[in-house]
Amino acid sequence: MNDGNESTRKRVKELVRLISHHDRKYYVEDDPEISDYEYDMLLKELSALEADNPELILPDSPTQRVSGRPLDEFSQVEHMVSMLSLDNCFSPDELREFDGRVRKWLGGVGVEYVVELKIDGLGIALLYQDGVLVRGATRGDGRVGEDVTSNVRTIRSIPLRLAPSSGLSSTEIRGEVYLPVEGFRRLNKEREDAGLQAFANPRNAAAGSIRQLDPRVAAERPLEATFYALSYNDGPMPDTHTDCLETIAKAGLKTSPAIRVFKTIEGVLDHISSWESRRDDVEYEIDGMVVKVNSIDHQRRLGSTAKNPRWAIAYKFPAKQMTTRLLDIRIQVGRTGALTPVAILEPVDIGGVTVSRATLHNESEIVRKGLMIGDRVLVERAGDVIPQVVKPIVEARTGKELPFEMPKLCPECGSRTSRAEDEAVRRCDNASCPAQVKERLLHFCSRDAMDIEGIGPSLIDQIVDTALVRDVADLYALTPERLMGLEGIAQKSAKGVVDAIEASRAREFERLLFALGIRHVGFTTARDLAAAFKSMNSLMSASVDDLSKVHGVGGIVASSVRRFLENPANVALVQRLEGLGLSMVVSARKTGPFEGKTFLFTGELKSMTRQEANDRIVSLGGVVGASVTKSTDYVVAGDSPGSKLQKAKKKGKRIISEEEFLKMIEGG
Ligand code: IVH
Repeated sequence: MNDGNESTRKRVKELVRLISHHDRKYYVEDDPEISDYEYDMLLKELSALEADNPELILPDSPTQRVSGRPLDEFSQVEHMVSMLSLDNCFSPDELREFDGRVRKWLGGVGVEYVVELKIDGLGIALLYQDGVLVRGATRGDGRVGEDVTSNVRTIRSIPLRLAPSSGLSSTEIRGEVYLPVEGFRRLNKEREDAGLQAFANPRNAAAGSIRQLDPRVAAERPLEATFYALSYNDGPMPDTHTDCLETIAKAGLKTSPAIRVFKTIEGVLDHISSWESRRDDVEYEIDGMVVKVNSIDHQRRLGSTAKNPRWAIAYKFPAKQMTTRLLDIRIQVGRTGALTPVAILEPVDIGGVTVSRATLHNESEIVRKGLMIGDRVLVERAGDVIPQVVKPIVEARTGKELPFEMPKLCPECGSRTSRAEDEAVRRCDNASCPAQVKERLLHFCSRDAMDIEGIGPSLIDQIVDTALVRDVADLYALTPERLMGLEGIAQKSAKGVVDAIEASRAREFERLLFALGIRHVGFTTARDLAAAFKSMNSLMSASVDDLSKVHGVGGIVASSVRRFLENPANVALVQRLEGLGLSMVVSARKTGPFEGKTFLFTGELKSMTRQEANDRIVSLGGVVGASVTKSTDYVVAGDSPGSKLQKAKKKGKRIISEEEFLKMIEGG
């Protein structure tokens, strides 16, 4: 190899090491050392070198996380060591019995217990050979699982190579793959926007995501993973479970959070009860706590039954499920005219929250579940989302239950409804049905769309009912004076609402595209379409074929976009919005000193309006965000900042004053 190649090879290796290090800082330790921009530059350099020298691509290169073609099916793999499940208990006395058994079998020696959170996801086993991730497998039946390596590789907190300083090299590590509640909510919202069936709970969503045959789809799902066992190691095993966890953490994986060690079962019980009341405070669903004997020697002496280890037990929290009576089914009309049945329930307390309504998704869900009005039903509350009706308790029927039929007329405007043959959903055919108009407005103003603060359902009800607003473009003609006649609107809030509407004129094109509420176009699809076509004009002239070429856009989405943009009413609306100064092109954000930087404002600025500040940032190549996210770089705190400031502080974001911001603009 000549010198040039040798130095390229070295640089590639160095970049892989560097990026993996920064991945760990960002995704595992939540403590980034460099900005997103600097990170992107490293990645860009590596991709360029790899493109020119494909022979230098390393198996653990971060560019190779999403690789391989979609599979036809997963192959079955046998686990190195059987994946046992945990015995359960539900009361302090049952846990005391477990403690009694452990102490009896160990013959009166001192016992230490480790307590971990039981995250409600699905078990996963990672196999590393010579430090490199070679396999990720689901639990399956405990002996044989499915090979989901290509999807596991897309989870950025899972290192493709173990840190050598951990001493681990060829080893099997077990843990849980899950979706944080926020990611689950977002995913479900995107699915609903795109007309897809929502997942019932974060666990199902995680399972569905890790079992995606196309790794590109899995890569888009905000999966996380934490690890709680070293199940095999070709080197020496640590002496205790806590040492195992420390070694796993050293190797670069996320480990079970909130671990505590106790010498008595009463200490364990106190700890568990303190968590039971805080279970909703963490950003993922926990269904209990796991208690494990700490000494690995003790674990070996205790052994296992055919199904469960004798040295560990799960203390399950009460399920977030209850039965109650289905009193009625009412119909809501969505922005695309979809008639959504909602279950009206006899109020019931589920895990501390009173539930009196639950979603039923659509007509065919009701048929599939075989629900009748008057049924006793099992209701689940998961992931802090709208509760779901799981199933009817058929055994409890009295014969007085009534079948449910979807109305043939829209309950809001009385127009005809129809249901396309290939669809689960029935819709109201009247595009100016007030219920649809209201929902479209609500969607337009929502956080991921135009992010217009201060416009909620009650204001929308009033502006539509009083004919102040008939479509989203009418919003821009609102004045504080017109709003002030409405109920509950004070002078200050009227001005605030109008300012917020004004500020939304500067939103990026992709947000506007999403905000239009085109069926099947969720946030991600809108972003991809905007990136591919760059402007409304070229999108308008794109054929279904052109549209389908965009990643993630299938035939159904493409036809839906085409249909929307062909509709004369929509064309007129887009033209009006353009006339109002809303952006119909992707902003040229790639140049200027703020390139790659995302700013966020909270509170009032003294020296300029928000709009002016937004324009300055965009003109310098930056982006203005609407909420605190991973990509937020700077949060500019003006006078009386809002809740965004708290959130930004909690996330360790860089907070700057208006003065500092002005200096940056001048410097730039
Ligand atoms: S230990 C041999 N620890 O709960 C014991 N499991 O049946 C292996 N889980 O299949 C499991 N959090 O998927 C363990 N901190 C934790 C856990 C945990 C969640 C899951 C795991 C297991 C199931 C229990």
